[in-house]
Amino acid sequence: MRMKHKLILPILLIAAACSTPEKPEKSTGLVTTSAMVVSAHPEASRVGKEILKKGGNAIDASIAVQFALAVVFPAAGNIGGGGFMVARFADGSVDALDYREKAPDAASPNMYIGETGEPMVEKSIRGHLACGVPGTVAGLADAHHKYGKLSWSELVQPAIDLAIKGVVLTEREASGLRNIQEDLKKYNTTIPDHLISENWKKGDILFQEELGHTLERIRDGGRAGFYDGKTAQDIVAEMKSGGGLITLQDLKNYTAVWRKPVRFDYKDYNVISMPPPSSGGVLLAQLLNAAADFPEKNWKPNGLESSHYIIEAERRAYADRAAYLGDPDFISIPVEQLIRKDYMKKRMADVDPEKATPSAEVGAGVIPAESDQTTHLSIVDAQGNAVAVTTTLNAGYGSMVVVAGSGFLLNDEMDDFSVKPGVPNIYGAIGGEANKIEPGKRMLSSMTPTIVEKDKKLFMVLGTPGGTTIITTVFQTILNVVEHGMSMQEAVTAKRFHMQWMPDVVGHEPGAFSASDSTMLLKKGHKLTLRKSIGRMDAIRILKDGRLEGGADPRGDDTADGY
Ligand code: DON
Repeated sequence: MRMKHKLILPILLIAAACSTPEKPEKSTGLVTTSAMVVSAHPEASRVGKEILKKGGNAIDASIAVQFALAVVFPAAGNIGGGGFMVARFADGSVDALDYREKAPDAASPNMYIGETGEPMVEKSIRGHLACGVPGTVAGLADAHHKYGKLSWSELVQPAIDLAIKGVVLTEREASGLRNIQEDLKKYNTTIPDHLISENWKKGDILFQEELGHTLERIRDGGRAGFYDGKTAQDIVAEMKSGGGLITLQDLKNYTAVWRKPVRFDYKDYNVISMPPPSSGGVLLAQLLNAAADFPEKNWKPNGLESSHYIIEAERRAYADRAAYLGDPDFISIPVEQLIRKDYMKKRMADVDPEKATPSAEVGAGVIPAESDQTTHLSIVDAQGNAVAVTTTLNAGYGSMVVVAGSGFLLNDEMDDFSVKPGVPNIYGAIGGEANKIEPGKRMLSSMTPTIVEKDKKLFMVLGTPGGTTIITTVFQTILNVVEHGMSMQEAVTAKRFHMQWMPDVVGHEPGAFSASDSTMLLKKGHKLTLRKSIGRMDAIRILKDGRLEGGADPRGDDTADGY
């Protein structure tokens, strides 16, 4: 059975305790003068701020925040998953790091197809067979090696302290843990006792001693503390006990990859985002290229005209995602053609202003011969270096498998492959040949860590979880700021909607469309469906006077902190 994609939920803007950030006005987020971290948890944002205050740069802070999130936000923060980092340095140079999980060597295209040809979808979502080879620790070690300033151990230590001294649960964390009790028992061969309780409540303290010791091995051994020795042996033993595929060799062979960011102009802005194996940067370019041709500024945000054209652009871009995008180390992807301005112009030429195009009639575009829990963090340091990171276990708490003896959750990223052509994954996305399972291949992602420049200067850092809705949430947030003049916080808080070609429906948050606009959208033939919540955007905008405004998503415990 397919699980419903649950996305979640009120804000705490916690002002920095020992500094004097400006008291936010009603419509803006926290404003600071020098540096800022916005992440999914107040403790993780605090850790990041402390690293920055100690003289660490944005890369250092992003590493410490990711390790802290692995402890305080186990639904998505991770060492057993993977992620993407996009960075823009104060000198204007940019870089992107891919530490996405890979399929184990023993994986095969039909591994989730039963004897009679039916897809065994649960196996790609929960349990040992759903796990890809984790990439997070390799990625963070590489990021530190190339750009870190503080010592590695200083960056890992705050997470160790949180794991061993314990973390005070927020209501959201407590209810997340209550909800997974049955699954933890069902999918683990050794019950993770420290997570088991039907009564988790706000204010309880979660101790994670084994995870703390795993983090100590990572602190002392770097990448080897995870991909070798006890941690690696525990992962392999866990796989053997539950019928998973990851071997010691898979772990030894895992490498993160530095990639060239996708870069494109949108009016006066230059956007720097994640290239494949994420579909994020390419689709964001397609969507902004389409939007550059609408009079978006003159339209009401989420109003009838704007929504109709945005939905039609999203329908077309996601059809291309299914056809063309996958791991660039395995398939050839026409990135340059897809992000060309005239390509999307042609794709949009048949949009009828009065009528929705049925998705079934929209195929992938013709390329000219030539020519669903995750978490995001945005950081700007006092020197003006910026880092956007989106990292994930895939579904909330990943595969639910906790590595016995090492105390951390493994991902269920294998579900991001196309399990069978035409069979949707948990986000309803379908795919084909380009994203089929192959040994050592990275599964296609929607994660879109993004940095925007204006007049060659840093302007915005943003990103969000949300499976396939990630790209449309990043797109809408950019439009909210650059076309509709919203503050960062307003743009993050604004209601969202999402279309992804198939299924042929527009998901929207309650109140995203006015009653009369929804009636008109229905009349044009759009199929609307209510979604409780879309995304958890964490973003920073650089104000004209150089100060930083945080936008922390009220849909979660997300918090801006800085000085
Ligand atoms: O890489 C991807 O696109 C997905 N695994 C992301 C999952 C996600 O955002 C879940 N969050 N709510």
